[in-house]
Amino acid sequence: MCGIVGYVGTQQAAPLLLEGLTRLEHRGYDSAGVAVLGSSGLKVAKQAGRVRDLADGLPKRFGGKIGIGHTRWATHGPANDVNAHPHTDAAARVAVVHNGIIDNAAALRAELADDGVVLASDTDTEVLAHLVARSTAKTLEQRIAEALGRVEGTYGIAVAHADFPDRLVVARNGSPLIIGVGDHEMHVASDLAALVRYTTTVAHLDDGEMATITAAGFTTYRIEATGLAATDRRAKEVDIDPEAYDAGEHDSFMHKELLEQPARAEAVLRGRLDERFGTGHLGGLNLDARELRAFRRVKILGCGSAYYVGQMGASLLEELARIPADAEAASEFRYRNPIVEPDTLYVAVSQSGETIDTLLAVQEVQRKGGRVIGLVNVVGSAIARQVDGGIYLHSGPEVAVASTKALTNMFLAFGMLAVQLGRVRDLSIADGKRLIAGLTRIPEQIDQVLATEADLALVAKRLAEAESLFFIGRVRGFPVAREGAQKFKEITYRHAEAYQTSELKHGPLALISPEVPTVAIVPDDELVERNVAALHEIAARGGPIVVVTHDSVDLGDLEGAVAGRIDVPRNERELDPILLTIPLQVLAYHAALELGHDIDKPRNLAKSVTVE
Ligand code: F6R
Repeated sequence: MCGIVGYVGTQQAAPLLLEGLTRLEHRGYDSAGVAVLGSSGLKVAKQAGRVRDLADGLPKRFGGKIGIGHTRWATHGPANDVNAHPHTDAAARVAVVHNGIIDNAAALRAELADDGVVLASDTDTEVLAHLVARSTAKTLEQRIAEALGRVEGTYGIAVAHADFPDRLVVARNGSPLIIGVGDHEMHVASDLAALVRYTTTVAHLDDGEMATITAAGFTTYRIEATGLAATDRRAKEVDIDPEAYDAGEHDSFMHKELLEQPARAEAVLRGRLDERFGTGHLGGLNLDARELRAFRRVKILGCGSAYYVGQMGASLLEELARIPADAEAASEFRYRNPIVEPDTLYVAVSQSGETIDTLLAVQEVQRKGGRVIGLVNVVGSAIARQVDGGIYLHSGPEVAVASTKALTNMFLAFGMLAVQLGRVRDLSIADGKRLIAGLTRIPEQIDQVLATEADLALVAKRLAEAESLFFIGRVRGFPVAREGAQKFKEITYRHAEAYQTSELKHGPLALISPEVPTVAIVPDDELVERNVAALHEIAARGGPIVVVTHDSVDLGDLEGAVAGRIDVPRNERELDPILLTIPLQVLAYHAALELGHDIDKPRNLAKSVTVE
């Protein structure tokens, strides 16, 4: 959420900063801005809107070989030109870009105003520029440390100062910052996506760390109450294909990421299935069989889609490992003073590994003595570093705001965890083997679903016409419906509401009409008859129905009444939810395409929610 870039080197900074910002735009697209330090001092250009608008409006004379840039997802103050970053002091000698939230900004703003400082924007960030400018400490690093000492909250910042024209200073506390080492030039970014075109030699700052960056290299320090203590952070090579950050021939990253799913699903399963003993090989859990057996309960924590897949995971764990399991929105968890028990296994689920609500929930569990494992995609991310072990998702970079391939791999990771946990409890070897075989089939079956994209597009076209829709399912199918509705509303801006099929007649049936379609999840399982009966109740009220089901399901006289039937391949019942989810992703994508929306950058949203 929000993106930061920086450059120090021998080239003109502005084009490089704009290119970096374009690659980070999924992190926030309310406004964008850059500042460069050149022979005529500090120059700033910023405005509401997209990076391309900023690039189009950039003054001709905008030279400088040092610079910082920012793409914003608004927190404090509306998305207008003034609130765009970089923020400066009144004399425009200091420029700051910032990700995160300064919790005591109101108090600091009041204090500055009392001192006669005129604040130009509504943002929390601006106080940092003024605090740095007012410091009389000798070095820029000390001035920034002094300013940060006044601040409560989270930050990733990059600062340029006209009085120190050879350097940028960056610092991190809760928001990622990465330094990229080039040839006589250095890059800075809040996300690898902005760096990999230039370099794959990078250093990740830790919380509480600061770095001075010049064209010749970087030095790092820990910010301590007594001053700055040097740290020995070194840059390392990361194994990343820059192509992974390009949409290639696809119209959007979401489309690319949808189609990558079979390959990424294979990647998460690779080397982690033990066919002989029907179990998983999840060494990263850091839990041996005795420790696994000792857990009496599993609590899954995640936000948004990661929460919904957590609900799918809870079902898997209960069914296969026969252990009580439930999922909870991480954003709510720590505010209800949760009881943390030592024999509960906590599982944090996060694509980005940065979602602040999930990170804070993990810390709350650990503070109270709980054991947390992570299902995380981004290697070395804050949650990945915080947890006591876990399963990396190997989805590759997910750029589209709407999560698809990471969610699929979260499900598969839960599948492997459930089998491994089940096998040290009471899952038989035969069932273990059955499920391992089922997991192995999933990549190919996802491919089969994706091969029906053209048919799904036709269904999506019809759904896109509706202002309001229901997504319904029961038991294993309910989290599928929740995720389907989430994806649909996120990128189509249609009202999509998920409901348990069984609960429809307890209220929402009142909304069913020919204008309100229902997407019904009807797997061929023990509830199929009950599900079909509910569809009759909808059809009797004239509600159009799209059924996501298996070809073995006989819809009887409903068949003629359904507006669309989507058959997905069968797997083991427990594993069916992910195959039922894939067509819902495709429906959302094609409905959004039909409506002409910016699929990768849905309004009001941004990738990775790093503010509470
Ligand atoms: C939905 C979506 C969000 C994320 C949620 C958690 O498509 O992407 O709901 O799932 O913000 O993000 P992570 O998984 O990064 O913690």
